[in-house]
Amino acid sequence: MSTVKKTKGTGKKPVKAPKAAVAATLKADSATSNGNAADNLHIDSNGQTPGVRRRDFIHIATVSFAGVGADAVAMPLVSQMSASADVLALASIEVDVAAIQPGQSIKTSWRKQPVFIRNLTPAEIEEANKVDVGGLRDPQTLADRTKPGKENWLITLGVCTHLGCVPLGAAAGEVKGEYGGYFCPCHGSHYDTAARIRKGPAPTNLVVPEFAFISDTVVKIG
Ligand code: FES
Repeated sequence: MSTVKKTKGTGKKPVKAPKAAVAATLKADSATSNGNAADNLHIDSNGQTPGVRRRDFIHIATVSFAGVGADAVAMPLVSQMSASADVLALASIEVDVAAIQPGQSIKTSWRKQPVFIRNLTPAEIEEANKVDVGGLRDPQTLADRTKPGKENWLITLGVCTHLGCVPLGAAAGEVKGEYGGYFCPCHGSHYDTAARIRKGPAPTNLVVPEFAFISDTVVKIG
């Protein structure tokens, strides 16, 4: 939809361009009296300007208009292409997690949504693994939500699945809830150390976005 609007809007610009282009062309031609203009004006050996002159003005003006018009149309297209590149850039992010110590989390942003990246401690991993998955509202193991060999890296959207608040627990000193993961104070949802919903109105676990480690410490999200 937005593409259509932009395309319609830019269609007006070339309409204004011809006047400026024609005026600029005429001014330039009439102002040049050093002999170069003669090529354009076809001044004959007697200093006369045959009838072809008017047609040449029209021709020059038309070419100028076409050029300006093309530029005026092309710029929005380039602009749209740039916008698409920006969107593509936002489609994935790369985060170096080397500095995140066990027990620490960071908040980052991906596609305008908060993302929590958490380095689980061995105790938090053990806590997550000893849960009876069958009794969970949204049954998933920690392994289901992490990568093989990287089970300590819990990466989720920081968006409560109830009504979209940003839960607490990622920043130092924030309340982590009754299950040591995240706590959404909006309506009291508690998530465990695998960010699975354990108590409160949220229907599902915090969402794990598509991600992959592209090196030992750099994770690509998206
Ligand atoms: S939005 Fe999180 S509990 Fe309601």
